Amino acid sequence: MSKVKTLGQFIIEKQDDFPYSKGELSRLLRDIGIAAKIINREVNKAGLADILGETGDNNVQGEQVKKLDVFSNEQFIAALTAGGEVCAIASEENEELIPVANEQSKNAKYVVAFDPLDGSSNIDANVSVGSIFAVYRRTTLSGPGTLEDFLQRGTELVAAGYVIYGSSTMMVYSTGKGVNGFTLDPSIGEFCLSHPDMKIPKSGKTYSINEGYYVHFPDGVKKFIKWCQEEDKSTNRPYSSRYIGSAVADIHRNLLYGGVFIYPTTSQAPNGKLRLLYECNPLSFIVEQAGGKASDGYRRILEVEPKSLHQRTPFFIGSSEIVEKAEEFMKKYSVVEAKN
Ligand code: AHG
Ligand code: MN
Ligand code: MN
Repeated sequence: MSKVKTLGQFIIEKQDDFPYSKGELSRLLRDIGIAAKIINREVNKAGLADILGETGDNNVQGEQVKKLDVFSNEQFIAALTAGGEVCAIASEENEELIPVANEQSKNAKYVVAFDPLDGSSNIDANVSVGSIFAVYRRTTLSGPGTLEDFLQRGTELVAAGYVIYGSSTMMVYSTGKGVNGFTLDPSIGEFCLSHPDMKIPKSGKTYSINEGYYVHFPDGVKKFIKWCQEEDKSTNRPYSSRYIGSAVADIHRNLLYGGVFIYPTTSQAPNGKLRLLYECNPLSFIVEQAGGKASDGYRRILEVEPKSLHQRTPFFIGSSEIVEKAEEFMKKYSVVEAKN
């Protein structure tokens, strides 16, 4: 039998990468792994249990909340609160951040921002969904965490990752030393190392964007889409169009095969749709660690200065050569003043 390495074993081995850490980050990643397994269990039996459909509420973003959004949010909050490594939590589903005030956690080193269920509008149709997390070191000195601890650039991330609940369930994460992917083996209930040292191809032949909104896109994006559709042997064009509508799933596929994912500004969403702190920053950290690029069309996502918890940003992410090409079109045809 080949030797299987579980997520738990891998995390312990990698603890030596952080000689000054007392193992808090390792425990925090383990807690996230546990929340992911519980969410996976519910997602997988979603059609059987009474957990499909909407709760009837809207969230901070004005979007319909699914029962599984609420469930996943509760699992993350419970795991991170009980773990004792996090002094505050921020979630897509909570307007305000959640300070963690219990004795064990209030002076903890880290804060975590997350999207508990990404692509949740897909869930009733059995399409892949995900969870995304971002771990920062607090900047305040003690007590429960505050907004200040979250308003850090993505360049300051300590760790980030996502879980994809797809044809198999995977956790992909980075602590800034490359990217590793773990597939859940349901027969033993463990994430096992299946994709060591993941690298995104420099180029690819897939573009992922909701083309239904074409008329509302900036000129740079319209021209870039047309470029993707042109015939050119040397760059393997025309590219294929693939859009699942779950950012985690679209970006995971492009990470494996190469390609670009774009959620630009539209006339209805002038700042884009996706959220900087718990969607774009962690996904950018992973893709950069795998050798790719992430941009808002003009500059690196990880260098954008966050001003608020639920800030949105236009998002271009994937293979370096294709993201650079999209940026070229933006700079040529959609000149705007950088906002931050
Ligand atoms: P969430 O389910 O967390 O609200 O995120 C959904 C996001 C993202 O996953 C996806 O890429 C995008 O919304 C799809 O939006 P459109 O339906 O506008 O294309
Ligand atoms: Mn999302
Ligand atoms: Mn979500």
